[in-house]
Order: sequence, then structure tokens, then C-alpha cells
Amino acid sequence: MKSTVVLGVTGSIAAYKAADLTSQLAKKGIDVVVIMTASAQKLVCPQTFLTLSRNPVITDLWAMPDWQPGHIELSDRAKLLVIAPCTANVIAKLANGIADDALSTYALSHNGKIFIVPAMNPKMWKHPAVRQNVKILEGRGVKFIGPVSGRVACGDDGEGRMEEVTAIFAKLLEEL
Ligand SMILES: Cc1cc2nc3c(=O)[nH]c(=O)nc-3n(C[C@H](O)[C@H](O)[C@H](O)COP(=O)(O)O)c2cc1C
Repeated sequence: MKSTVVLGVTGSIAAYKAADLTSQLAKKGIDVVVIMTASAQKLVCPQTFLTLSRNPVITDLWAMPDWQPGHIELSDRAKLLVIAPCTANVIAKLANGIADDALSTYALSHNGKIFIVPAMNPKMWKHPAVRQNVKILEGRGVKFIGPVSGRVACGDDGEGRMEEVTAIFAKLLEEL
């Protein structure tokens, strides 16, 4: 049976890299269901993920195509939830159990492992609020992939860059 992976895509400038990750996972025969936040949809188009995953993309908690809340059915079959890229905002929401959109609501109902792939400015990554939220999530068994050091989109250098897609892909395959 095909493994199902839920891929959360959030409003980081690195969101375009999630398209490559979707493509690599789908080519391996993995069933990828993408959930995008509203901010992610300002940066990348849902159609890209629809085409690469060949699955409907969840863009709005209130526009589910079925009678049953889709996140419950999905959580019964998804092995992994991967959020790549993951904003400081979504890290904070997950750490605090906030469920105010499709991705954060799904995350609360997810039964399997969670991988977070942060991407943000180094100043944000260093912020005590982010550090504390990361600690909370690690304490609950959530795995972090990256971030790595390097130049981020705004030109700053430091830790905060999203891990390379090939490295993320390799870690997820190991897990699957
Ligand atoms: C062009 C642009 C790029 C952004 N990149 C990032 C980023 O890499 N990481 C981050 O944490 N926030 C970034 N933000 C801020 C988030 O988009 C903002 O906090 C938003 O509320 C996140 O929503 P979401 O977490 O629901 O996707 C960026 C904002 C803009 C306008």
C-alpha cells in the first residue's frame, strides 16, 4: 500500500522549494497531500502542488469537498506530517495547540510523526520565543530538519536557511 505523507507549506519565501520536495516524493510513489496556509498561497500557487502531487490541495478548512471534516479522515491514513518550509508563526501555533486554519487544525489530529523544516531570518530563529517553542515541540517528540547556516533571501547570513531538498527527501525516505 502507498504511504501517505501530508506536506504542510507555509508562508516562507522558501515555499517554492516545497514544489520540488512534492515532485521527488510523488516520483517515489508516495501519496502526498499538500495543505497550504493562506500566506503560502501568496507565494506559490496551489495548482503547482495539485499537478505535482496529483491530489487535491487543501487550502481552506471551510472548503472541504466532503461531508466529513477531511482532516480526521486524513489523519487515519497519513504516516508523516512534514511542514516544509515552516514559519516561526506555525512553530508557535503548534507549540501552543492553536488550530485556526487547515494546517494547524490537521496537525492537532495527526497521529503519526511530525517533521518540521524551519525557514526564517536568522534573527527570528534566534528569538527567545522561537527557541522556547522549538524546545516545547522537541519535548513532544517532534523532529526538526535544519535549519542550516548560510545566506537567507533578505541577504542576511546565519542559521535560518531551509535545509536542502535532497537532504530532507533522504531523511523522509529513511523514515518511510
Ligand atoms: C515575502 C515574505 C517572505 C517571508 N518569509 C518568511 C520566512 O521565511 N519565514 C517566516 O517565518 N516568516 C516569513 N514571512 C512572514 C510570514 O509570512 C508571516 O509571519 C505569516 O503570518 C505566516 O503565516 P503562516 O505561518 O500561516 O504561513 C515572510 C513574509 C513575506 C511577506
